[in-house]
Amino acid sequence: MKSADLLILGAAQVVTLDGGGEAACRGADEMNAVHAIADGAIAIRRGKVVDVGSTNEMLHRWHALQRIHCRGRTVLPGFVDAHTHPVFARGREDEFAMRCRGADYEAILAAGGGIHASARATRAARQGDLTRLVRERFDSMLRHGTVAVEAKSGYGLSTRSELASLRAIRSAAARHPITAVRTFLGAHVVPEEYSGRRRAYVDLIVNEMLPRVASGRLAKFCDVFVEQGAFTVREGGRILRAAHALGLRGKVHADQFRDGGGARLAARMRAVSVEHVDATDAAGMRALARARVVPVLLPSASLFTGLTHVPNARALIEAGCAVALATDFNPGTSPTENLQLVASLGCSLLKMTPEEVIVAITRNAAAACGLEDSHGRIAIGRPAHLVIIDAPSYVHIPYRMGTNLVHQVLVSGRVVVEDGRLKD
Ligand code: NIG
Ligand code: FE
Repeated sequence: MKSADLLILGAAQVVTLDGGGEAACRGADEMNAVHAIADGAIAIRRGKVVDVGSTNEMLHRWHALQRIHCRGRTVLPGFVDAHTHPVFARGREDEFAMRCRGADYEAILAAGGGIHASARATRAARQGDLTRLVRERFDSMLRHGTVAVEAKSGYGLSTRSELASLRAIRSAAARHPITAVRTFLGAHVVPEEYSGRRRAYVDLIVNEMLPRVASGRLAKFCDVFVEQGAFTVREGGRILRAAHALGLRGKVHADQFRDGGGARLAARMRAVSVEHVDATDAAGMRALARARVVPVLLPSASLFTGLTHVPNARALIEAGCAVALATDFNPGTSPTENLQLVASLGCSLLKMTPEEVIVAITRNAAAACGLEDSHGRIAIGRPAHLVIIDAPSYVHIPYRMGTNLVHQVLVSGRVVVEDGRLKD
């Protein structure tokens, strides 16, 4: 008998998502190859998984002082939310109510609302308040089973406020169980004071913001919103090239409302991921598959903006892409921290299978934010980041639409959510 620190026993299923050698699961065959160990168990030592198998096998091989009896619950890798905008000072429920009465999202933005309204409030906020707000949002994500999150700036839109936003993410994550990967999104929209002078704003991003972000090690990725009303392909390319030169890999918000060539830009620039792709054409999808860019689909944003466009997940998967799903948590188009809901929308709106959506919120999501070595699967030698859900199979995650099924969350083998509540 070998000794472990913790044994997790009696799981109806342990879903490891550990097949195949590559970082992400590409195409329908790999994304559907989800294997569940019945009556499963996991042994953990020093925060890492040291063995996985059936409860019987584990009880014969390991003893441990601490045990968690799952009593028919399901264990999965902790979820990874690969696309969020958590740094904003206040909600936009007023704009939501206007849209419910027929106002249009892009028209509100063009009239100085939307992202501009969030920028005004975020610039006026104190650093400590921003940090507290981000921390509260991370708390909510963790309660919903998210153990790692990609978090963008993008509501500052000035050097001072963009840097403050990235620092707020860093401070909020510093003593928080959640892992946060920071992305600089100074190129979210051209701010109001640069209206008519967009070239000067792109210059500011390239010459001032990006060098400050890089020298302060404030972000791992640089994102650009390529869309009518935001940035052009040419501007996006210039910003991403400058980012690369400073060691930041690219991400692109592309084709949310129309195909503007953003996906092809992401492929050309070898971006790590491309976001939304609601309106991308077949050639753009093939380019993404060839360049191995991970499409991060955001069905809750498609739903919340009225389903004018919905990403073609089936075509992306058939093209051989490794598709991920994320919440796009933000005050305008997706005010939800619940990745389980997003998984459900993946099935109902995007026609993905339950296996595909589980892969899309774990392993493929980890690959979309450079966390493939530490997150997204349960395997010997990896940190024990786990979620235990109150259901007898992983299919319940998409099936129970919008319900938070999380019972416990473990980060590096430590219980951080117990009975659905944060442990202090
Ligand atoms: O991903 N598309 C751009 N940005 C966000 C929405 C921003 C907002 O409305 O505040 C998105 O949907
Ligand atoms: Fe977004």
